[in-house]
Amino acid sequence: MYNIMKILITGGCGFIGTNLSLFLKKKGFKINTVDNFKRKGSKYNSKILRRNKIKNFNLNIANNTKFQKLPRFDLIIDCCAEAAVEVSKNEIDRVFNTNLVGTFNVLKKVKKDKSKIIFLSSSRVYSINHLNEIINKKVIKNELRTRNKIDENFNTSKPKSIYGFTKLASEMLIEEFGYAFKIKYLINRFGATSGPLQFGKQDQGFVSLWIWRHLTQKKISYIGYGGKGYQIRDVLHIKDLCDLIYLQIVNMDKIYNKTFNVGGGKKSYISLKNLTKICQNITGKKIDVFAQNSTSIYDIPYYISNNSKVERTYRWKPKNNIFDIVRDTYKWLETNKKNLKKYL
Ligand SMILES: NC(=O)c1ccc[n+]([C@@H]2O[C@H](COP(=O)([O-])OP(=O)(O)OC[C@H]3O[C@@H](n4cnc5c(N)ncnc54)[C@H](O)[C@@H]3O)[C@@H](O)[C@H]2O)c1
Repeated sequence: MYNIMKILITGGCGFIGTNLSLFLKKKGFKINTVDNFKRKGSKYNSKILRRNKIKNFNLNIANNTKFQKLPRFDLIIDCCAEAAVEVSKNEIDRVFNTNLVGTFNVLKKVKKDKSKIIFLSSSRVYSINHLNEIINKKVIKNELRTRNKIDENFNTSKPKSIYGFTKLASEMLIEEFGYAFKIKYLINRFGATSGPLQFGKQDQGFVSLWIWRHLTQKKISYIGYGGKGYQIRDVLHIKDLCDLIYLQIVNMDKIYNKTFNVGGGKKSYISLKNLTKICQNITGKKIDVFAQNSTSIYDIPYYISNNSKVERTYRWKPKNNIFDIVRDTYKWLETNKKNLKKYL
């Protein structure tokens, strides 16, 4: 079919990895995953993969000896990370090993096998100070009404969290391997992504967490920036992410060695406050909302992706808005509520 047939998805039992694995298998690719089930919920997802005849290699990506013994793949999609920004403050060694040494190991395998890599990077490569600067206090107080969108040239110097550092350092390493060893790569800097199979927690996967808390009638808190819930994020539907990665795979002979910002863009940016309203509407439930004033040094007030480059390159656009995302995630959580309880 294409030059790429056999694909390894690292972090393949996570939210994005599982969705991608199932989607790409349906498109006719042969899929394997690597995952050590560090994320609560990944065991649940691994059972779905097994039912779909997708084999997972249960190993730590930081273990290079074991990783290099895996069979050859035409493409590795690197979705493996400790994905929570706040965790990177407390578990520096694990985050460094999983997120950066992990990518290094993937690159060594890609080099040895003469294969290709698609890397899932993050909007958190951008400077926290600079993101804070584009929002003046007045704007955040009155909710966001700015047209500022962040493109690939936004400032990446200055602190961005240790998580953000591992992502940017991984990108730089990928570029060096591309340059020195002629490896074909693509880097996608995703903003928040959501949808079915996401196990939301306080510091990662906020849309899924918000819906689950409504569904189970537990409290939520607006944390930081005065505790008003005015922080803005753009959210991408996992279906739109899968469509894009498919386009990237089938075009990878022609389009490679590029970095893209990818987000929900204009269609689906939302403040936490408005997300609460949507959750109330869709679940029909109202829960207590608390306020926590203090802002984490890693929090950002605002992020909306400028998708121009990726849209122009692939003639791709997110099809789903924030209502679609909340509705589809809600359907999954509601339908599987009983079985999901122990993971959430
Ligand atoms: N979900 C988002 O909103 C978002 C946004 C931007 C970027 N990303 C990036 O996309 C990728 C996938 O994110 P996700 O939301 O699916 O996260 P996730 O936590 O659901 O998936 C990551 C998977 O990696 C596995 N893992 C963690 N450490 C490992 C290790 N040392 N060895 C092997 N497996 C390990 C976990 O068990 C988990 O299944 C990550 O690189 C993340 O940084 C995600």
